[in-house]
Amino acid sequence: MNTLNDLKDRFPGLSNGWARFDGPAGTQVVDTAIEAMSEWQRSGNNANSHGSFPAAEACDALVERVSETMSQLLGADPEGMVFGPSTTANLMALTRAVSKTLSPGDEIICTTLDHSANVSPWKIAAEEAGAHVYMAQMNGKTGRLPTEAVAGLLTNKTKWVAVSGGSNAIGTMPDISKITEIAHQNGTRVAVDGVHRTPHIKTDITAIGCDVYATSSYKWYGPHAGVLWIASDLLSELPAYKIRPAPSIGAGRWQYGTPSWETLAGIEAAGQFLLEVGIENISEYEQKRFERLLSGLYDMPKVRVAGVTGPDDVADRAPTLMFLVEGLSPEDVAKHLAESQVAVWNGHNYALDAMEPLGLDQDQGAVRAGVTAYITDADVDRLLEAVSSL
Ligand SMILES: Cc1ncc(COP(=O)(O)O)c(C=O)c1O
Repeated sequence: MNTLNDLKDRFPGLSNGWARFDGPAGTQVVDTAIEAMSEWQRSGNNANSHGSFPAAEACDALVERVSETMSQLLGADPEGMVFGPSTTANLMALTRAVSKTLSPGDEIICTTLDHSANVSPWKIAAEEAGAHVYMAQMNGKTGRLPTEAVAGLLTNKTKWVAVSGGSNAIGTMPDISKITEIAHQNGTRVAVDGVHRTPHIKTDITAIGCDVYATSSYKWYGPHAGVLWIASDLLSELPAYKIRPAPSIGAGRWQYGTPSWETLAGIEAAGQFLLEVGIENISEYEQKRFERLLSGLYDMPKVRVAGVTGPDDVADRAPTLMFLVEGLSPEDVAKHLAESQVAVWNGHNYALDAMEPLGLDQDQGAVRAGVTAYITDADVDRLLEAVSSL
């Protein structure tokens, strides 16, 4: 399916000709989101919520609209959408509240596949409460997190499972529906880090059944911000840290200070962009480019792609991979690719606990390349040629 081939023109940040495989660290912003943000700033609506004049009413209307857009995008009730500066900040706020509900000896399961933003906040919360964190182990050879690795750690003391919806390092997507089902049978809550999942696969939170879902709009063509969906019972019951005038029920208890209205306008536009293009279409488009990228790299004898079982190991995987080139540091490879105007990331990419199972150096990590909706076959070929010329 080729209908996405013209999308590149929608991203002003691509006009300098670079092939941007750094999407997993943050995508370029779609034109409608850029316009929505500047239009908001120009509109005179920059006010505050709950006022008795039109600009203030426009702020309230914006929150309602962006929550509705997020609800359509993620398949969950709009009332549960909490907007914050980033997923890290949102999960810190969540776990700070969760910590107050934990007792000494309680248990939390995190995973070695996860980004540190869905591990460290839980570790801090556990430490403060005298609870324990157990790490479910990914399989470094397949790059997968087996459901049993989580299920096998559940006990009658397990209060939360914090699990990746998609690895920001190597793309693999655990079976979060099954994990949630098993955890719920045990009376355990589930928080999914959907940051690397949301832009690549149609997500339906209601069908997954999880209790918390985190995403960041700068990974899906919008501004830098985090959106945290919290299930309705937890939303009002967890002891959120808040100041006295902040709302005592609903999403407002979790949001600190005046929202960044312009950012909300950008999130709304980026969300609408995904809904209009269709994440299913994006998935199909990305998958083709990813197959080309993975098989091209896999077939080079001097390249090792981490956590894949073969050149066509693309099932249940967001279009992201990490690779090493024999005899060269990841940083040197990234610098070499930059000479051909190919942007890739190098390092551990905050997936700290995944480095050892993947057989990668904890500090140097590997080179990470991610396909997004604006990557073309020509971009993939440019990356492959640059690697093969090393
Ligand atoms: C999978 C994953 N989780 C969490 C985060 C943290 O997101 P934020 O930068 O919004 O705090 C990232 C950022 O790279 C990520 O890729």
